[in-house]
Amino acid sequence: MEILKYPDPRLRRRAAPVKDINSAFEEKVRQMFEVLYKDRGIGLAAPQVGWSERVLILNLECDIDKPELERVLINPRIVRREGKRVAEEGCLSFPGLYFQVERDASIELHAYDLAGDEIVIEADNLLSRAIQHEIDHLDGMLFIDRASLVEKAKIRSRLKSMERAWAKHKKKKQSVGR
Ligand code: CO
Repeated sequence: MEILKYPDPRLRRRAAPVKDINSAFEEKVRQMFEVLYKDRGIGLAAPQVGWSERVLILNLECDIDKPELERVLINPRIVRREGKRVAEEGCLSFPGLYFQVERDASIELHAYDLAGDEIVIEADNLLSRAIQHEIDHLDGMLFIDRASLVEKAKIRSRLKSMERAWAKHKKKKQSVGR
């Protein structure tokens, strides 16, 4: 399992609702945590590893020794939003890219956990931001879509070079497979 990098078109797909939680599902979630810790992230959505279902994982301290901080949110739904806040964000599909993004300050979220129980989360600060960022991934939306004009101008050349690198990488892969 590896993280898809921008501009992989699979990052733009809308993920399907999870219908069943079984042992294969749990194994995939476990692999997502391995990738999350390896790449030093705090959150990851299934579409980022090419898995087009509505599941996201979090460990806000990215600490493998704190499994109690691990959260798995299945079919998450934001039911209430309040206020706005701007802060810096990054994304594992955009290594090294950070910029200011406006998000809802606090949210109330309904989701299912790995046991299949419905959970309600009231989140603000980093948790609220991380959840909104990952839910965007489930809808094929990326944080660059939420950049202000000023931020977009600042990151444009970085995005262009990522697009060039991706095209080159893809071409190489094709010639290897021939
Ligand atoms: Co992301």
